[in-house]
Amino acid sequence: MCGIVAHCGEASAVPSLLGGLERLEYRGYDSAGIAWLHGAGHRLRVARAAGRLSALLDVLPADAADDVAVGIGHTRWATHGEPTAANAHPHRDCTGTVAVVHNGTIDNADALAERLSAAGHRIGTEVDTELIAHLIEEQLDGASPGTGDGLDRLAEAVAAAVGQLRGAWALAVTAEGVPGVVLTRHRSPLLVGTTPTALTAASDTLGLCPRTATVRELGDGDTVTLAPGRTLRWRGPGGRETEPPAPLRLSVRHHTVELDGAPDHTSKEIAEQPAVVARILDAVAGRLATGRLLGDLGIPGDRPVRLLACGSSAHAASVTARMISRLAGLPAHVVPASEHSPAGDELTVAFSQSGETADLLAAHADGGPGPWLAVTNNPHSTLARRSDGVFDLGCGPELAVAATKSFTAQVVAGAALALALAAARDRRAVAEWERVLLGIPDRLAATDAMARPVAEELAKAFAHQPGWVFISRGAGVPYAQEGALKLKELAYRWTEALPAGELKHGPIALVTAGVPVVSVTAAPADRLAVNARELAARGARIITVGGAGQDAVLPAVLPTREPPWGPLESVVALQHLAREVTVELGHDVDRPRNLAKSVTVE
Ligand code: F6R
Repeated sequence: MCGIVAHCGEASAVPSLLGGLERLEYRGYDSAGIAWLHGAGHRLRVARAAGRLSALLDVLPADAADDVAVGIGHTRWATHGEPTAANAHPHRDCTGTVAVVHNGTIDNADALAERLSAAGHRIGTEVDTELIAHLIEEQLDGASPGTGDGLDRLAEAVAAAVGQLRGAWALAVTAEGVPGVVLTRHRSPLLVGTTPTALTAASDTLGLCPRTATVRELGDGDTVTLAPGRTLRWRGPGGRETEPPAPLRLSVRHHTVELDGAPDHTSKEIAEQPAVVARILDAVAGRLATGRLLGDLGIPGDRPVRLLACGSSAHAASVTARMISRLAGLPAHVVPASEHSPAGDELTVAFSQSGETADLLAAHADGGPGPWLAVTNNPHSTLARRSDGVFDLGCGPELAVAATKSFTAQVVAGAALALALAAARDRRAVAEWERVLLGIPDRLAATDAMARPVAEELAKAFAHQPGWVFISRGAGVPYAQEGALKLKELAYRWTEALPAGELKHGPIALVTAGVPVVSVTAAPADRLAVNARELAARGARIITVGGAGQDAVLPAVLPTREPPWGPLESVVALQHLAREVTVELGHDVDRPRNLAKSVTVE
């Protein structure tokens, strides 16, 4: 989950690297660092800092931006070793002349560390990346890479070094006296971008500079060099020079990252949900009742469906699986991507806002004959590029770490997909539910306005409660799970989320006087109310979302008859509740501890 950037071009490497790292900070923000080549002698300089990118800016020397044409950078989410400045990338070899940034994890790090230490290398950290720098040093065999055709020799050394690794890596390497960057990868994405004045690289498209016109993706085992004058050399897995792959045009819309008056990105993104849904409904208009959406997405309408996802996206996938089986009569089941097994010839629908989640990419790499549809907010992502069809959520960047608008967008995309599948199988209810779908933006906006102040009051009353229970029934259960996940990840409260009827089979033992129980109204509401009363009788404080309740009501505007996608609007109220509790407790809403936006390690 870390982010890589690299730059080789005219003299603007440091600002380009810092801009890329800022856009990639959502991938990890434990620490950050850059390495660049300074002055006519291309002296290697490195700056690193623990914490956010702002901490790195504080330690950069004043002359860092002068005349620098070549550099690499990294923002880190710690896997090996603590998030300290010493463990931050770039890492260097014993001579201090080779600098490496790395995404991924090295499985044979312990054995390599032992061998390198025995050979006399001074290993200064527990970070697997440092070992790669020493392996490259070993391949260079004491000779400075800055002699002769240094970049070619560095590329050969990198290729030989990674031959000893097991695991996953995307690497950018530079070395003193060698004006250029070497890139290579294995099971971790890496892209080369071309701007009018430079070659750049990044681990995802957001890290590339806004002036990037085209991108090329490295394949596993490729070794690529970026040299001045936008000179690109591409070698395939055997080291043989090949033509670079055909470039893809990049149509990324560079959205504003400003708060526009909102207190934080989470709040801004919660409020954007009506507009996000309206855009999706507009994009699919006229293509549901005819089933045409399926043809446009390039997917079959008659196969069983396997839905793969993680976290919040898995909750949206659960809502979708239920809709597909109920509306279209097709078998549909959700598999957490980290638990996948080899696919058959069913249709796989992969839900991933980032499109870079390693567990999903691993599932894709395991192959299988069936087609893949990516439902993603990043149509340029690795998942999108590898899938047969792409449903572009078009939410704009979600900069807060917790998924809000991308979750709601995934549910609406899932509903559109289920309705199109139902239409293709001649099911009748499509037109009726399409009308209810069209009312979602107004109901979300009304819920946003009503729930926000109530959530603030509830947070004052309940924020310090350490344990919370979330219940619902039927189609409401994934929303209860989503509300519980939001509270857990933002406010660091322990939560339990389950179908209400399951409580009496054990978890009710957790319910004592004062425990907040959030009851997400869903059909059958009368049965849910009975379960809530059983908890109230044991002293629980019931917060009812979207219905009449006993202790407190958190408003959500729901349609009169429950649609197949369940009480979607209640998620806005739940998002507000989690955010307000977080604010009340004084935590950082946009950047919760231990997390990163894009989970790029398995
Ligand atoms: C929670 C959250 C995570 C992601 C999960 C999958 O707020 O954001 O649970 O949903 O890591 O990420 P994507 O959707 O990028 O595959």
